[in-house]
Amino acid sequence: MGRVIYQVYPRSFADSNGDGVGDIPGITAKLDHLAWLGIDTVWTSPTFPSPNVDWGYDVADYRDVHPELGTLADLDQLIAEASSRRIETWLDLVPNHTSDRHPWFTDRPEYYVWSDTIPNDWQSVFTMDTAWEHDARRKRYYLHQFAVEQPDLDWWNLDVRREFEEILRFWWDRGVTGFRIDVAHALIKDRELRDGVEYLRDRPEVHKIYKRWQEIASEYDPKPTLMGETYVPLDHLLAYYANLDLAQNFDFVRSELDIDELRPIVEKTLEKLPPGRSALWFGSNHDHARLATRWGGGDERKARAALFLILTLPGTAILYQGDEIALEDGDVPADRILDVADPPRDPERTPMPWTRGGDEWKRPWLPLGSTARNVEEQSADPGSTLHYVRDLIARRKLFSDDSYETLKSAKGVWAYRRGDATCVLNLTGKTAAHGGLMLEPWQGLILST
Ligand code: NOJ
Repeated sequence: MGRVIYQVYPRSFADSNGDGVGDIPGITAKLDHLAWLGIDTVWTSPTFPSPNVDWGYDVADYRDVHPELGTLADLDQLIAEASSRRIETWLDLVPNHTSDRHPWFTDRPEYYVWSDTIPNDWQSVFTMDTAWEHDARRKRYYLHQFAVEQPDLDWWNLDVRREFEEILRFWWDRGVTGFRIDVAHALIKDRELRDGVEYLRDRPEVHKIYKRWQEIASEYDPKPTLMGETYVPLDHLLAYYANLDLAQNFDFVRSELDIDELRPIVEKTLEKLPPGRSALWFGSNHDHARLATRWGGGDERKARAALFLILTLPGTAILYQGDEIALEDGDVPADRILDVADPPRDPERTPMPWTRGGDEWKRPWLPLGSTARNVEEQSADPGSTLHYVRDLIARRKLFSDDSYETLKSAKGVWAYRRGDATCVLNLTGKTAAHGGLMLEPWQGLILST
């Protein structure tokens, strides 16, 4: 109950060898800090060999580690050292597409989605242009929902399914205990390639894939967790819980920090969630502006309000690296932009500031950004956001159960029962009253009964 997942974006987390790129030994070196914070799980964005057109989300080999990030032995060590601190290690599986440098694209063309002509109006998420690219070698068009260098796999092909079942086993046998599944809502496409985005994503047949993955997971003890990156509206999200343990709730992420937007989403999610499943809340990741910027707008009190919510709602919470110090997006000048997407996602991917001097990053791959909020100083300051988050994580473990009930409250104040405790959050910039209490702007309080 109350699991907290910590998302590491490896290139920007901690650099162990001074080459300007964060790496797996860097994560291992920070495990004591993560254990102190109280998180349960480290999920790393992709660690596989990749030409880095989409920074790891274009995988060239699903069974190895990118040399810039370390070796398989380093990953084994991370898994072992995390486990000795009771921290699970989850990887990021990318089953919708591979890199065009993956050997399959040459040796197994039948693993991909092809057409003799451009068959429909499907568009690439990155270019907003046709998602079909002509391949001179095959003299046919292949599908790419993302970059041209990321051809989509054909999940109607049973051999593709078998390949991924073996990949799951490969990592689960090594001690990885979960996966975040990239583009989990879109692996399988309409067989007839009909026009319309509804035939490209969120097809009903996708659920069967995860049913099979759960069967394989059940052979392991403890059963590994499957968490989907599920970019679908809430009405469709809950169907993913039939076979996934966790499904990311993007309606929540995309809301304003506004009680009238967020509360209905939370209430509906909790009301419709299948029994035994856990809700999942987060406010930042490597694709969206960090919550301290997007929701906080620089105001640390607002960032804390968002963190209060994420960490006191029932279910599972994800913190993106830096959320715990209310880290804002970095400033990335045009000549340092590396992302393939438009608008670029580099500002939310800048390195983690461990110290004010920032000497831990020598010529980092992306600019460091402000170090005014950094781990070293916040660790030493009991009034910091870092301590605030640590205290919330410790407190959430004490809720007597995972129940939730909205309570009556004044406008802009969100009050809810959490097991035997009451949470009160002032989501306004003015002082507010609740019961006999006065709440400062953006203040959250947990009251014990
Ligand atoms: C979602 C990932 O989070 C994003 O970073 C990536 O560009 C796309 N999927 C494609 O893999």
